[in-house]
Amino acid sequence: MPSFTYKALRVHEISENQVERSITSCTLDDLPPGEVLVRVHYSSLNYKDALSATGNRGVTRHYPHTPGIDAAGVVEESSDARYQRGDEVIVTSYDLGMNTPGGFGQYIRVPADWVVPRPQGLSLYESMILGTAGFTAALALHKMEQNGQHPDQGPVLVTGATGGVGSSAVALLAKAGYQPIASTGKQDLHAYLEALGATEIISREAVDEPLRKPMLSSRWAGAIDSVGGSTLGTAIRACAPNGNVATCGLVGSPNLSVTVFPFIIRGVNLLGVESAECPMPLRLQIWQKLATTWRIDHLSQIAHLCSLDHLNGYIDLMLQGKTRGRIVVDLR
Ligand SMILES: NC(=O)c1ccc[n+]([C@@H]2O[C@H](COP(=O)([O-])OP(=O)(O)OC[C@H]3O[C@@H](n4cnc5c(N)ncnc54)[C@H](OP(=O)(O)O)[C@@H]3O)[C@@H](O)[C@H]2O)c1
Repeated sequence: MPSFTYKALRVHEISENQVERSITSCTLDDLPPGEVLVRVHYSSLNYKDALSATGNRGVTRHYPHTPGIDAAGVVEESSDARYQRGDEVIVTSYDLGMNTPGGFGQYIRVPADWVVPRPQGLSLYESMILGTAGFTAALALHKMEQNGQHPDQGPVLVTGATGGVGSSAVALLAKAGYQPIASTGKQDLHAYLEALGATEIISREAVDEPLRKPMLSSRWAGAIDSVGGSTLGTAIRACAPNGNVATCGLVGSPNLSVTVFPFIIRGVNLLGVESAECPMPLRLQIWQKLATTWRIDHLSQIAHLCSLDHLNGYIDLMLQGKTRGRIVVDLR
């Protein structure tokens, strides 16, 4: 391909523990080898991107770096027979945006094994409204249902409900026939959560009870938690018998302190949710569900579209817990 430049949001290390972000001109030579070159149309901002963009070594080891764990676009070149020039594809997770230049650049080059054909029923834009956050919410619900969760058992708690995973989880649960209880720290966004399908809205503090009692009275039949810490502990201790609590995040804390009683007295199940290395057959199954039976009505309600030039400001807001729903990045 002839040489040309494209735009990317690059994170540069300016001193130890200090990084700076800028929109930089890159060339295809800046991309690693890989079978599939994709012209990125949309990306989205995930919590992991905000960590990478602020120099978190647990996510990104080497800088300069282009974050963006999500990308959706059109195949420009492929040396793998499964993909042809012009195919619309989604790439999320694996190492994208962590130590491989990610979706905050107008081009990515990745192994063909990371690529998912855009499922019919979702546009490239819609696939990035969901992105890793929506995929993770769906994976959580899938695992809960595999483990017996059913709408008749009662309402399901969603913590961090106005966030990316949270908003997707509330909308998805409502779509799948559940009654979502949304827990949020944002009092001004109750109408937003109701519009997504929340049947009850509670404060963050209501799901943050100190560990005085090993179990609390049952308040939900299951939970999708992206907060961790004492919030996850409360979600487990107040879960009804045989319910499933899916843990996928740590915006509050990575720690968990509970006794074994909810597990051995009530049969509560704690399910780990890991989207990054989700095996391809399950990955395809989840995307297919998101495009059909679990296609969220009014997906655009959870989206805020921004350009690459305006992305920078949202990164810090996300780390302060101040964003709402999904920030989708337009790279066309
Ligand atoms: N396991 C996986 O595969 C996977 C995949 C995707 C994301 N994640 C993880 O899931 C978490 C959420 O990701 P996201 O993209 O949804 O982030 P996000 O959009 O920033 O949402 C997080 C939400 O949590 C709430 N929150 C923020 N700070 C908090 C605090 N200190 N205590 C309690 N609640 C707080 C806020 O919602 P309210 O104001 O409504 O309370 C915030 O909007 C992150 O830890 C991320 O790494 C994991």
